[in-house]
Amino acid sequence: MFDDPQSPDWTPLLEAAWRARGHAHAPYSHFQVGAALLTATGEIFAGCNVENAAYPVTLCAERGALSAAVAAGLAPGGLLAAVVVTDVAELTPPCGACRQALVEFAGTLPVLLANHRTRTLHRIEDLLPHSFTGGHFR
Ligand code: THU
Repeated sequence: MFDDPQSPDWTPLLEAAWRARGHAHAPYSHFQVGAALLTATGEIFAGCNVENAAYPVTLCAERGALSAAVAAGLAPGGLLAAVVVTDVAELTPPCGACRQALVEFAGTLPVLLANHRTRTLHRIEDLLPHSFTGGHFR
């Protein structure tokens, strides 16, 4: 956890994440997740987890939100903040795959984890140190 003097206004991001979580399709795990992303254009994109009877097809909330942001024009470096919300006592950091997906588009990326009672703030580089960059492909 860290204090970020450049933190955005988390309120609209939290609202968007909770709203999206309300639409989560999680009939198998019963674990509903909401995510919201702030981009350099000032736009907010939200996502929820979308499970499937074929379990591995499941999409996490974070990558749902990221897909919406990219479809609207998000470019690498343009991802400024992320929020992940659940209603369980233990806060839910993004899974490994979602961390890697977020890093691809992140500048300095504060990641706020929240439930109805508490919040913790993290940096994406702390959540995923030594991420794979694919730099040698470019
Ligand atoms: N899930 C997310 O949406 N985001 C995460 O970061 C962790 C897990 C979802 C996937 C699945 O629908 C449910 O939570 C249980 O794993």
